[in-house]
Amino acid sequence: MRKKIVAGNWKMNTLPAEGVALAQEVVAGKGTVCNCVNFIVCPPFTHLSEVARVVKGSGIALGAQNCAAEEKGAYTGEVSAAMIAALGCEYVILGHSERRQYYGETSATLNRKMAQAYAHGLTPIYCVGENLEEREAGKHFDVVKAQIEEVVYELTPEQFSKLVIAYEPVWAIGTGKTATAEQAQEIHAYIRQVLAAKFGAAAAETAILYGGSCKPGNAAELFAKEDVDGGLIGGAALKAEDFLAIGRNGFGK
Ligand code: 13P
Repeated sequence: MRKKIVAGNWKMNTLPAEGVALAQEVVAGKGTVCNCVNFIVCPPFTHLSEVARVVKGSGIALGAQNCAAEEKGAYTGEVSAAMIAALGCEYVILGHSERRQYYGETSATLNRKMAQAYAHGLTPIYCVGENLEEREAGKHFDVVKAQIEEVVYELTPEQFSKLVIAYEPVWAIGTGKTATAEQAQEIHAYIRQVLAAKFGAAAAETAILYGGSCKPGNAAELFAKEDVDGGLIGGAALKAEDFLAIGRNGFGK
């Protein structure tokens, strides 16, 4: 049985006190959602330590939104995988399209970040997805295939067995334009096939999340699809009730 995951990527939103309040509301409302759902919150680095205290013992896991490609040393402004692991993070989002687009993250960088994450016991949530131009040109399958081959294929089978994938079409992120459930299923099934080509039967156990304008109103339809194992939520994760409702509508009470 694959894990059902609803993860909130807060991006660069909330001040620390607001983040603590948001996490407290999520903890308080978790009982209204099927306990089959694994909730993860990914606040900014600056709130990790305080949010860790809020979610401790609640069954809600903590993740970071990025980590450095290096172990430690003279890398001004970077935050290492060891640091976020020490604060209680279990997960780290890697390869988000915003990191690829605005901060020039390449597969080569991501290979090193993945290695750091695993070395410190973190589970990467590795993001893939095409932009609008690529989708319109019918290249979306090739784009995600390359993003997987260049990074995920470098993992050992043991590392792969822990990996979570998020498919996030760039044209659906923050735009209000969601992929249809059929579009999501089509590419999630394809992603699983690409994973299986390298890792065999283990690919049947990989949680593949959908991300991009996922909301309480579309979660049920998306998560009902066979290869959609949950969501990576941006905007709607900033309201506890919406975040929880995505889990509830998608996977039940
Ligand atoms: P939105 O849910 O705001 O579209 O963001 C999706 C996302 O990028 C999550 O990582």
